Amino acid sequence: MEIIHTVAELRERLDGHRANGETVGFAPTMGALHHGHRSLMAAAAEHNDVGVMSIFVNPLQFAADEDLDTYPRMLEADTAMAESVGVRYAFVPSVNEMYPEENWTTVSLRVVTEPWEGDSRPTHFAGVATVVTKLFNIVGPCRAYFGEKDYQQLAMLRRMAADLNQPVDVIGMPTIREDDGLAMSSRNLRLLPEHRAQAHVVSAALRAGIAAIDAGERNPDAVESVIRAHLTEATHAEDPDYVAAVDASSLLVPEQLSGDVRVLTAVRFGDVRLIDNMGTTIAGEPNT
Ligand code: PAF
Repeated sequence: MEIIHTVAELRERLDGHRANGETVGFAPTMGALHHGHRSLMAAAAEHNDVGVMSIFVNPLQFAADEDLDTYPRMLEADTAMAESVGVRYAFVPSVNEMYPEENWTTVSLRVVTEPWEGDSRPTHFAGVATVVTKLFNIVGPCRAYFGEKDYQQLAMLRRMAADLNQPVDVIGMPTIREDDGLAMSSRNLRLLPEHRAQAHVVSAALRAGIAAIDAGERNPDAVESVIRAHLTEATHAEDPDYVAAVDASSLLVPEQLSGDVRVLTAVRFGDVRLIDNMGTTIAGEPNT
């Protein structure tokens, strides 16, 4: 595997592969990789001729009071994991390489970015959409892989690629979970032991919401109540920031659930905020 730091060098390598008719798969990350990221990189490498991953902690998607400076950086372990799943190129640019001049251009989306995570992080999604567009333009992948764990991000990027005719398939990969159901995240390590012991309640609550839908519940408020009731079992959890049953593409709450549906929540244990989501399809009742 080659570690590449400049846009020009990466383009030169990938132009060579494309000239030979080879397909390029891409897994963008911010490093501090865990098994969730590993599945994205493995898919990029296995389902394409050339697998590329990137590690870039993108300042544009952090607000002034967020953890940009303390965001974990562990380049050696990260690149070793990328290499172990067959990635050919790790693109690790500096901030100056990605933003040589003040950024005057922003990609931002309405609707799908507004509720849920957008409520507490109003500038975050435009920062993600902008850097992912830049990375798509630099890498030129046929397929790009993102985790379903950050479901709102995935829904936004799918819509962005469609709206802007970006020539890439945005592919969502299933959330990888710990044995007790907790969705993998680098934040899990920061949970206090007594909080970690209760954190499985988040996925159990969402599963209960999905079970209610699968059993015929079509009222999103009723599904929300089922999930909220389960979350109260975690006595260390604060009131959730949000709980919702939504349309899987728009992330809006419909009057009646139909077609592809997602249940979402964000719950704080101490100073660690956990987000999780799950999906189901209501067969025979396409989205209206
Ligand atoms: O999901 C992430 O790690 C980041 O938001 C991404 C997509 C790499 C953009 O910086």
